[in-house]
Amino acid sequence: MKTMADNLNKSASETDPRTTPLYGEIITHLETDGTVIDIGAGVGRFAIPLAKEGFNVTAVEPNEEMRKHLLGSIEQNGLTSRINVIQSSWPVDKDLQADVTFASFVIQFSHDPEKFIHSMEKCTNKRCIVSIHVDQPLGFLKDIWQVFRSSEPVPAMLTFSDLYPMLLNMGIIANVAIIEEKRMSGPVMEPAKIIPLLSDLLSIRDKPADMQRLKEILEGMRSRIQEPPSMRTAIVSWQPRR
Ligand SMILES: C[S@@+](CC[C@H](N)C(=O)[O-])C[C@H]1O[C@@H](n2cnc3c(N)ncnc32)[C@H](O)[C@@H]1O
Repeated sequence: MKTMADNLNKSASETDPRTTPLYGEIITHLETDGTVIDIGAGVGRFAIPLAKEGFNVTAVEPNEEMRKHLLGSIEQNGLTSRINVIQSSWPVDKDLQADVTFASFVIQFSHDPEKFIHSMEKCTNKRCIVSIHVDQPLGFLKDIWQVFRSSEPVPAMLTFSDLYPMLLNMGIIANVAIIEEKRMSGPVMEPAKIIPLLSDLLSIRDKPADMQRLKEILEGMRSRIQEPPSMRTAIVSWQPRR
């Protein structure tokens, strides 16, 4: 999470979040004094500029490390009256309401994406918006999996091709914009930093020979891990049915 928080801070400092298509889509549906729920707000990449623009933000964030950065920025920017931070995963066990509810790169972590979407609709008056990867972020995992767990299915993150059919099944026909993500400067994903995550996924932490093999494989894939061939995002947006 520390790495993710650092990357999100870096992203916010390199690309002004207000220039992103997601931000544009959010504010299109807001009027003066509008209300927004930012699900999985992270370090506040969107919550902070939205609050600075005068909107009232409810930022839902379950992770302590992320909340620490978020609360620090709120304090630093004098936005305590504009942003209400809720320490929780989504769905929240409270009756929230807002004009716009959005989740930027969060739904892939949900254990129940359908419930996630249902709860978004229940809380939203005007627009629900979800940003999600189009290309599998862990695409390189397929080759590693072959080496250690060839008979088991490769873990995969929920991507746009899973989400859209799910929405259709729920009776939601959403607008979609596909955008090519701007790359951050310098390496974002360092092989050494993903070894703990991968060794847990592969259950090889206690096997020194396998751990060594994993390190070598990751080194051999360094450029592929750091520069994935394509990084597209889908911005999925719809009017809630209430
Ligand atoms: C990739 S970060 C994105 C952060 C932020 N939305 C952004 O785009 O800058 C994912 C965030 O979702 C949070 N998260 C993960 N599962 C969640 C859930 N079920 N409900 C709410 N937030 C969640 C994580 O703690 C993390 O802060």
